[in-house]
Amino acid sequence: MKTLSKNKAVKFPKIRPRRNRATDSIRKLVRETHLTPGDLIYPVFVTEGKNLKKPIASMPGQFRLSIDQVLTEAQKAHKLGVAAIALFPVIEEDKKDKFAKESLNPNGLLQRCIKELKKRLPELTIITDVAMDPYSSDGHDGLVKDGEILNDESLEILCDMAVGQAKAGADMVAPSDMMDGRVGAIRLALDENSFQKVGILSYAVKYASAFYGPFREALNSAPKSGDKKTYQMDPANSREALREVLLDIKEGADIVMVKPALPYLDIISKLRAVVNIPIAAYQVSGEYSMIMAAAEKSWIDADKVMMESLVSIKRAGADMILTYFAIRAAELLQKP
Ligand code: PBG
Repeated sequence: MKTLSKNKAVKFPKIRPRRNRATDSIRKLVRETHLTPGDLIYPVFVTEGKNLKKPIASMPGQFRLSIDQVLTEAQKAHKLGVAAIALFPVIEEDKKDKFAKESLNPNGLLQRCIKELKKRLPELTIITDVAMDPYSSDGHDGLVKDGEILNDESLEILCDMAVGQAKAGADMVAPSDMMDGRVGAIRLALDENSFQKVGILSYAVKYASAFYGPFREALNSAPKSGDKKTYQMDPANSREALREVLLDIKEGADIVMVKPALPYLDIISKLRAVVNIPIAAYQVSGEYSMIMAAAEKSWIDADKVMMESLVSIKRAGADMILTYFAIRAAELLQKP
């Protein structure tokens, strides 16, 4: 120390960023990004039956829930301030076909679940997925013919699906199929059926990602042949994300989504700079499972990594996050 202070050549810093990190309360004052339960959307898997809570092997802590159990979870989420729930039905194999007909059944699993939720918890926003894969015997988001995913023929089914979900009481429909022109087509179909108030949360930038693996296990919805690369985006592309988002905005999307979230923070951040409508990000099943798996091995602290990843997604520019951690994160956020 003595030698240092005598040595005039050594300069101590005048500017010390560490001053703003000195105590917890100073850190609070200078914090730039705030996560609240109101930013969170809880994706839930719905299954037929009563009083069922079937574990999903690759997603520890997540379940396939019968409608009564969805209500319990939704109530819990709502009490904690979680803004919305996103529903994904597990369709029995014998109800699947090429045309995803079960998706249009007004008394189908999803439709019944929406009605129950709306009856019991009218203030909780309900978001429904518009895509054929949970109902399709081909496991693709669109109609398959000779190995090809047909675009315009799929749009007709997707429009009927969206209108049916709106009829059941969905507040927002979320096309996750990545067919061209679906946002415009769905907006028109909703408006023609007097659902002007139903919003469109578009999966505008959805990558052909291996991070969806556990979700496909949960719904048993993996493609029976081929992959989704002719409609979902190439992970190598970023300019294309802007093209997709601008198209969806022009077609009438109310909110645009980027999916997955953590490996695509650069995309969220780029879009934030040019897009003036809200941006959602989906922390997908594989992102959830990686954190849970490492935590099970005690290699990381699940709660801390969860909060860090969620705040990172917000910092990148997302206004809202779909996350399987919604309830746990909201619980932790209750604490001062
Ligand atoms: C259906 C859909 C998928 C996800 C959400 N909606 C799977 C897929 O496109 O294959 C993935 C969500 C997740 O992994 O958590 N189109």
